[in-house]
Amino acid sequence: MKLLSGHEVIPVEGAERERQVKHFEAYAPGLIRLMPGRWLMHAVYQEYADKIYSFKYKKGDVTVMTWPKCGTTWMQETVWTMMKNPNLNNPDAQLPLCVRAPFIELDVFSPPPDPGEVAPSNAHISATLKRLHPDEALGDAVHVQYAALCPSPRVIKTHLPFSLMSPAILDESKVVYVARNPKDVVVSYHHHSKIVKGHDFVGTLEEFVQYFVDDDLMYGPYWLHLKEALERRNHPNLHFMFFEDMKANPLEELKKLDAFLRTNLSEEQLGAIAKYTSFEQMKTRGVTPILNFERSGAKVDVLNEDIAQKEGGFLRKGKTGDWKNKLTPELEAEVDKWIQKNLNDLDITFRY
Ligand code: A3P
Repeated sequence: MKLLSGHEVIPVEGAERERQVKHFEAYAPGLIRLMPGRWLMHAVYQEYADKIYSFKYKKGDVTVMTWPKCGTTWMQETVWTMMKNPNLNNPDAQLPLCVRAPFIELDVFSPPPDPGEVAPSNAHISATLKRLHPDEALGDAVHVQYAALCPSPRVIKTHLPFSLMSPAILDESKVVYVARNPKDVVVSYHHHSKIVKGHDFVGTLEEFVQYFVDDDLMYGPYWLHLKEALERRNHPNLHFMFFEDMKANPLEELKKLDAFLRTNLSEEQLGAIAKYTSFEQMKTRGVTPILNFERSGAKVDVLNEDIAQKEGGFLRKGKTGDWKNKLTPELEAEVDKWIQKNLNDLDITFRY
């Protein structure tokens, strides 16, 4: 099967599939690779890929694009606040993040239906769609439909790389791309893959690091994702930034974002937004990209709550350099070797 993006869909089979399903129990329904690139996705992605690729962007839209765990949630909240809540008094700020700033490929991660049942829905999103389009069936690509219907200017989230998104995205709208140092990414993604039922990772950190350096994690390969963004770095509608810079000096980064987004906020407004979007304040407000789903009126769990309670929730530490507490010298050496091999081709320097 070929996608509109030109990628060939190759099912993951045999020993590779067995290995993945052994460690990621949620991958049992199937995985695919998209060639070229070797992008790894849930098999169900192929049902939505063309709709995501054909999404019509409008002037004013801003997409927050990152590889998983590079600070998407932080930047979604920041960009949404700068654009829609500059004085911190918009009551919509209470709505879940993915309702305000839709995750365009969320259909891929929505809980699967029980046998013979209709797919679980997010009550807010389906009510909004029914209100706006009372005659349309909601069954298919609900989150793509929802993103399409959100009022402009829209803030949209994706973890997909440029090559799987509309080729017009940068000409018709803006993209904020956030990069993060790979050592913190792997530690954060390991935690994420344990707490999120859509992954259900049951292996060790050593095994997870091996997946990372083999480019075998979902949304991988990490370096190609980054390379596709770096190739577009000089496009005036792309703002490329680092998690580490945002952590070190949020006000400076917000000033750059303000110029890019043309939000024209005062230093006082930006200072207040920097505090409002700090890790501590986002954690206190319970900001999370996790959306609640309901099946027959009852909540469907999308998080492994016991692990989240013990080891931290979605907003885990929010630090730079936490990898020093997690990676053994052997694992660090393994990741360093991989970084050296890949970094040569790219014009980028990470702070650790
Ligand atoms: P850690 O697991 O290292 O804590 P994403 O949103 O792309 O999934 O990225 C999640 C990572 O960003 C997590 O990293 C999370 O804690 C961190 N994060 C989220 N909001 C943040 C904030 N306001 N400040 C700093 N880090 C934040």
